[in-house]
Amino acid sequence: MCSVVNFNINGYHYKLPVIYGTFCEKGEKAINISQLRESTGFITFDPGFKNTGITKSSISFIDGEKGELLYRGYPIEQIINKCSFIETSYLILNGELPNTAQLKYFSEKIKKFNSIHKEIKKILDNIPNSYHPMGILSSLTYILDAFINCLREEDLYLHLLAKLPILAALTYRKKIGLPTTYADPHLDYTSNLLKMFFSIPNQSYELNPIIADALNKILILHADHEQNCSTTTVRLLGSAHAGLFSSISAGMSALWGKLHGGANQAVIEMLEAILKSGGNIKKWIEKAKNKKDPFRLMGFGHRIYKNFDPRAKIAKKVAENVIQQLGISDPILELAKDVERKALQDSYFLEKKLYPNIDFYSGIIYQAIGIPKEMFTVMFALGRLPGWMAHWKEMKLNKDPIGRPRQIYIGYKKRNIKKN
Ligand code: CMC
Repeated sequence: MCSVVNFNINGYHYKLPVIYGTFCEKGEKAINISQLRESTGFITFDPGFKNTGITKSSISFIDGEKGELLYRGYPIEQIINKCSFIETSYLILNGELPNTAQLKYFSEKIKKFNSIHKEIKKILDNIPNSYHPMGILSSLTYILDAFINCLREEDLYLHLLAKLPILAALTYRKKIGLPTTYADPHLDYTSNLLKMFFSIPNQSYELNPIIADALNKILILHADHEQNCSTTTVRLLGSAHAGLFSSISAGMSALWGKLHGGANQAVIEMLEAILKSGGNIKKWIEKAKNKKDPFRLMGFGHRIYKNFDPRAKIAKKVAENVIQQLGISDPILELAKDVERKALQDSYFLEKKLYPNIDFYSGIIYQAIGIPKEMFTVMFALGRLPGWMAHWKEMKLNKDPIGRPRQIYIGYKKRNIKKN
């Protein structure tokens, strides 16, 4: 393995150091260009950071060629079958799975912080009901900061884990006209989340273990995913020493975008449109391939995966199981499987290595759970929270410098205002 790369610019010879990651044989290697401009006068040009590593991280790892995902070294397939979302959150935040005492402390502390200030409820009451739930969640997360007097950073993470489900549930309940809800300290994290969403006043809430299990799994599948757009946003804000709540709120805004977490809502809307227009999948695939048409097959393609997204494989199975176990029939699931089959027989998708991503099947699970389309990305945010916080924490521990890219200016040369 080489420790430097050599190159020439205008007859001058330079050496740049090489950095290797844990899986260097899988391409975890980088040319360290941190001194490039100082020594050569050149910067690099890499729109969308397609070739740029912004940090060293030990939280999650994706082998995009193989379609593998590890959280702190553990394969997602093992975590999904052996861990709860709260254990996964602990793992992602702290680096190791909790022992019994650690898990008890972590869960109890979250339960202790399981309430919000009544003023936040008043703010929510004043937000127009037509506003998208992601806008509401991001705004409330931002303002939460004003109501938490907490000096221990570790407690801030637990406050967020405790309070985000309440904000999400209140957002949902406001939308459909249900009154305020409170956390139930006797329930585990996911069961409490379901009860806060769906309980009806004066009726006892019957927890469905099939639904609780599906929710637990879909939250785990979202828990972390390297330097994606929202996580990078969180790190970038944190690098300017912005607070945790504003950094997470900004991450939510990035997640809302249709090319990122907002894709889950867009997928179901697309599948519904395909059904409504007569179910001619070929026509929609042709539309996605047409470069003059802005339409893309939502839930397909990924910056890193050039093979099946392992999360999509698991989500497909979870969707099939939950629908079968609940005894419901969902034409959207059958359509989605058909779209996947047809797209993966098409040379366009094969050559460009475009496979279904997590968002292709997650919406079907949410729908089976009873969550409406507009709330899908909110559920993604609840799942991604531990990952965002772990990256914020890691960025601080790494002492990463403020994120401030350069540019190549192509505007006017210096000129004078012609005005008398
Ligand atoms: N349908 C049709 N063509 C596509 C699609 C798609 N879904 N995705 C990529 N392509 C084409 C794209 O037009 C380009 O073609 P060409 O090389 O001829 O210009 C090529 O494939 C490479 O695409 P790209 O846009 O350069 O790749 P990217 O890495 O910049 O974008 C992506 C990745 C996820 C934004 C993109 O695949 C996409 O827009 N997918 C649909 C939206 C989606 O499902 N997003 C959820 C992502 S997974 C959840 C998450 O982590 O956020």
